[in-house]
Amino acid sequence: MTKVCIVGASGKLGQHMVQHSLDRGYKVVAVCREKSASKLDRFRYSITVVPGDTNDRMVIEKAVADCDAVLTVLVPWGMQRHSSGTAQAVLDFSRQDARLIFSAGNHITKDGLDVYSRKFKATVAAASWFGRLFRAFDLKDQIEACKRIFASDTKWTVVRAEGLEDGESQGLPVWSHHAGDPILDSKLTRRTDFALFMVDSITNESLVHEAPAIVSREAPSAVSCGV
Ligand SMILES: NC(=O)c1ccc[n+]([C@@H]2O[C@H](COP(=O)([O-])OP(=O)(O)OC[C@H]3O[C@@H](n4cnc5c(N)ncnc54)[C@H](OP(=O)(O)O)[C@@H]3O)[C@@H](O)[C@H]2O)c1
Repeated sequence: MTKVCIVGASGKLGQHMVQHSLDRGYKVVAVCREKSASKLDRFRYSITVVPGDTNDRMVIEKAVADCDAVLTVLVPWGMQRHSSGTAQAVLDFSRQDARLIFSAGNHITKDGLDVYSRKFKATVAAASWFGRLFRAFDLKDQIEACKRIFASDTKWTVVRAEGLEDGESQGLPVWSHHAGDPILDSKLTRRTDFALFMVDSITNESLVHEAPAIVSREAPSAVSCGV
């Protein structure tokens, strides 16, 4: 049976990934902060929970052992290199042949060929400044985390989105290699479908070493591009 570790399982995206993984019959190991473990109560008879900080190397080493895939919610909380610490631990301790899937935003670029609007760049710059001013989050560290992932020889995929919304599934999102592609113009992806894309990537070898930028399948821009 495929064994999947979900790092950051108690958040919104993480909980959707747990559900989609169970729907596929996967065995699930979930990592989340100790104080958030109760958010996974509805899954308690179906999954194994490893409580602990998601950037704690010992926690990650224990959780990813023997896993065929590791799905990581990459978040830049705090000023203690949370994202890069989490990513590095996942890269270091996962099995060499494991599929590693990370979530991120469109501000991450793999090859510098993404095209950003002035508004998007201003929003990211303001968020970055604000996060550092209040020492709440550090977008630069999420960028550093992704640099390490892109440089690694593991079987990684970094799934990117611009905006997330809640709501019913619309099916597997559509994707493009680069932000700025007209198909992504609508910007929004359903959170449940972001999670679906991450889980689906486990068995999609064509996404290895890709950083797909996704949007909901029924978003107007996807529909008008004829998908
Ligand atoms: N939000 C967006 O509009 C958006 C847009 C594009 C891409 N993304 C990407 O989507 C992913 C999920 O984003 P989301 O915003 O929807 O969040 P989310 O799914 O609700 O997940 C937030 C995660 O951060 C953890 N967390 C919260 N506060 C923390 C803290 N102080 N220290 C350590 N961990 C903390 C949560 O754990 P607990 O359960 O323990 O609190 C949870 O695992 C991220 O990779 C993000 O880059 C988000």
